[in-house]
Amino acid sequence: MPDPELPRLEDYQRIVFFTGAGMSAESGIPTYRGEGGLWGQYDYRDYACQSAFDRDPAKVWVWHDERREMVGACEPNAAHRLMAAIGREKPLSLVVTQNIDGLHQRAGSERVIELHGSLWRQRCESCGARQENHELPLEPKRCACGAWWRPDLVWFEDMLDQRTIEEAVRVIEDCDCLVSVGTSASVYPAAEMPFIAMRAGATTVEINPEETPLSALFEHRLRGPATEILPLLWGA
Ligand code: OAD
Repeated sequence: MPDPELPRLEDYQRIVFFTGAGMSAESGIPTYRGEGGLWGQYDYRDYACQSAFDRDPAKVWVWHDERREMVGACEPNAAHRLMAAIGREKPLSLVVTQNIDGLHQRAGSERVIELHGSLWRQRCESCGARQENHELPLEPKRCACGAWWRPDLVWFEDMLDQRTIEEAVRVIEDCDCLVSVGTSASVYPAAEMPFIAMRAGATTVEINPEETPLSALFEHRLRGPATEILPLLWGA
């Protein structure tokens, strides 16, 4: 028997899945905060900001190559796959993710907005070129114009891409249900996204094993890992 307290995703058409690092935790990719979190092991000032890259691009690339290798060896999990399947049933639905790992796309999701960029894309700050490249390690590390490729990521102290934010805001204003999965809701402006859905009157759901600073504002707060909780909302 379905639990009558749980929202049924079948009842919605324009679902936004708003995801963070916890979405990929069950694929074996460590989250950023909490026990074993990336930022407990590494100082972002050495690896994940423009000034670190300006000081020593080769060192920053070694670190990103290692991340690409680790992420490339992981597979999408059952929650990624279920979101992709729901996307096929509900073509107006989409994923707005803070993740840079590309696992939503590998699971088959076609409509994905990446707020923080992608580990699998590079851009050249000198000539403006951009490329997708999955080679491990990335080769060559320089663009045809001679400048270093830079990971096309939002690092600490970077601004988010304005067009990407506007697109995300537009779809979230228009959604009828927002399901937040696996984010600590601590990094702005991404963490603001659920507010937009709340203000627009959408049904809001948080899936996370732990409380977050925004938990109290969600209509439904479901405690547990993504792969266990998400299937409870989808009976089709
Ligand atoms: P965090 O590491 O801050 O938070 C991960 C969240 O996932 C926590 O709230 C966990 O409780 C939850 N979690 C852990 N395992 C889970 C599971 N199996 N199922 C569901 N939830 C689970 O990651 P983000 O919120 O994504 O920025 O962090 C936001 C941004 O901070 C990232 O995009 C990254 C980082 O610095 C950039 O790279 C620009």
